[in-house]
Order: sequence, then structure tokens, then C-alpha cells
Amino acid sequence: MIPTLQWTPEGVSFLDQTKLPQEETYLLARNYREVADVIRNMVVRGAMAIGVSGAMGVALGIDQSTATTLPELNAEVQVICETLAKTRPTAVNLFWGIAQIRDLYTKLEAANTSIPEIKAQCVALAQTLYDEDIANLKVLGAYGAELLPKEGTVLTHCNAGALAACGYGSALGVIRAAIEAGHKIDVFADETRPFNQGMRLTAWELVKDNIPTTLICDNMAGYFMGQGRIKAAIVGADRIAANGDTANKIGTYSVAILCKEHGIPFYVAAPFNTIDLATLSGKDIPIEERAAREVTHVNGIQVTPDGVGIANPAFDVTPARYITAIITEHGVLRAPFEESIAAMAKIAAAKKRA
Ligand code: MRU
Repeated sequence: MIPTLQWTPEGVSFLDQTKLPQEETYLLARNYREVADVIRNMVVRGAMAIGVSGAMGVALGIDQSTATTLPELNAEVQVICETLAKTRPTAVNLFWGIAQIRDLYTKLEAANTSIPEIKAQCVALAQTLYDEDIANLKVLGAYGAELLPKEGTVLTHCNAGALAACGYGSALGVIRAAIEAGHKIDVFADETRPFNQGMRLTAWELVKDNIPTTLICDNMAGYFMGQGRIKAAIVGADRIAANGDTANKIGTYSVAILCKEHGIPFYVAAPFNTIDLATLSGKDIPIEERAAREVTHVNGIQVTPDGVGIANPAFDVTPARYITAIITEHGVLRAPFEESIAAMAKIAAAKKRA
């Protein structure tokens, strides 16, 4: 399995995704501030991976605290959570991960639990979230596999794979599950300018798994759809609003529109913690604007003329009407999404309580 991130006695170890595919190196974040840097600098990226990284960052901060009283620790926990929450704005999983540990902390603190016990329980929960991420994605993969064609080419955009999670992946998890179930599928991977997650990461992990993969430039998808080559498209998500509108890597919206035009199913695969019931529609999802340098430079070399204006939104929102189905670990959601999401939220809450 690809070790995207791992809790260690010295801190959290991350496979440095900025160096792939040329180098497989690991970077150790020795404290919560370094975890925040790793998320901000995209050493770790992908909604599910940064969700668990956020949780591990909070747990690490609590575990390393030298506070001797609960009020002291309280003040520290607030700073730790704020620091991690400021790293990236779009993927709701980050805020979910931070909240998981903070909520446990709040409960333990209210019960006047000893500081060593609080530390032990917060670290244990972070590790449980890691295990649950992989387990949930395997269940999600099995639901999604049934929707993919028995044979043919499936298009994906960005990297919604093992590297974007603790393992297995969401969109790529569905593809993995379909292949495990005997489907004869090959993958077309969009390169995903400007950060090239498709070219560098999706291609790397699929080739590693011997899944037949063809890399295409972002502007080639329509051509291949017009030729009848693409049977389905599947992507991950960074935040799904209560009405089904879905934020994902920039360029996803164009793929969804192309699918609609060509009568190709467009699937979103995401664990239920990607659904943000507090965000009513895509208009309310904050879109991260990243540094101009990601567009102007390729491998450290400037490829644009001085003086040209640069825009670099990292995500776009695909309106729910373009989405054939949203695949989660609790089952498959279909339109009207407002209703199916609300119904699934009740099922998810009941499962959590059980
Ligand atoms: O900027 P990134 O690389 O973190 O963006 C990642 C994506 O957009 C993925 O498609 C998304 O997180 C879904 S997979 C967890």
C-alpha cells in the first residue's frame, strides 16, 4: 500500500507529493506547525489525506503540549486548531478532521479528564480516523464498481487516489474495486494543470498498480469523447454542498459539461465527510486561489512573459445537474440530491450512534 502519511513516535511522516514521480522521499513533520506547513505546501494534498493530516496535527499538538493545567491546554488547543484550519480553505474534510479531535478534547476536558489520558485518547482517535478512511473507501469502491462499465475507458481528473487519502482512493478506489471485480477497464488521466496531479500522481500510482493508463492533456478530453472512446468519467470531491453542487480540482466543471454533451455518465466519489450540510449550494464554497508561480513556472523555469496577468483558482464547482451520481461509503446518491443527501445524513448519524 502507498504510505501517504503515517503516525510515528517522532511525528507524522508524509510521502512528499511535490517530489513525485521523480523521487519517493518522506518528510517528517515533528510538530503541529510543521504539519500545517506540509498541508499548505501540498507535500500532502487531496481532501481525505488533508482531513486525516489535520486530525493528526491536532493530536500531535496536544500530545506534545507541556501544559500542566486544563485552562492552559485549552488555550493551546485553540491555537493549534486555528493554525491548521488556516492552511487550505476548500476541502471541508480538513475542518472535519480538526473538529473530530477538538470535539473529543472538549468532551474529555468537560469531564475533567487527566492530561495524560486526554493525550492518549486524542492520539488513538487520530489513528482510528486513518484506519476508517481506508475502510470507508473500500466500501465506497464496492458501491461504485457496480456503476462502471464492464469494459472500456474511464476518464478521471486530478488525483483522487491512494495519494489523496490514507490509501485506496475515492475515484481511483472505485476503479480499483471494478478491476478487482473483473471489469476490463483502462484509465484516461487528465494531466490537471497547473499542479499536474494527474500527470505526476494519478499516472504514478496507477502504473505502480499495473492499471492500464493513458495520460492526456486537459484539452483533449472533448476530442476523445467525440470519438466515443470514453465510457464514463469519475472524479473525487473537496466539498459537496447540501444540494449536491460539488467543488473539485479546477477543470472538473469542464469535464462534467463535456460528459453531458456526449451522454457520458459523470460520477463523483467521495466519503460522506466531504458533504457539508452547512453549505447550502456551490455558490457558498470558498475557492482557494494559489500562487501565480504554479502557472508561470514549470520545473522552476519561467514559461510566461513578464507582465502577463495570472489567475490560479485551484478548484471549480460543478452544479449538481451535471452529476449522474455521488458515490459514498453509505451508498449511491442520485438526484434530487437535496433530498437524497438529507436522507443519507440521517442514516449516517444513526450508524454513528449505533
Ligand atoms: O489541490 P489538491 O491536490 O489538494 O486537490 C485535490 C483534488 O481536487 C481531488 O480531486 C480531491 O481532493 C478529491 S480526492 C480526495
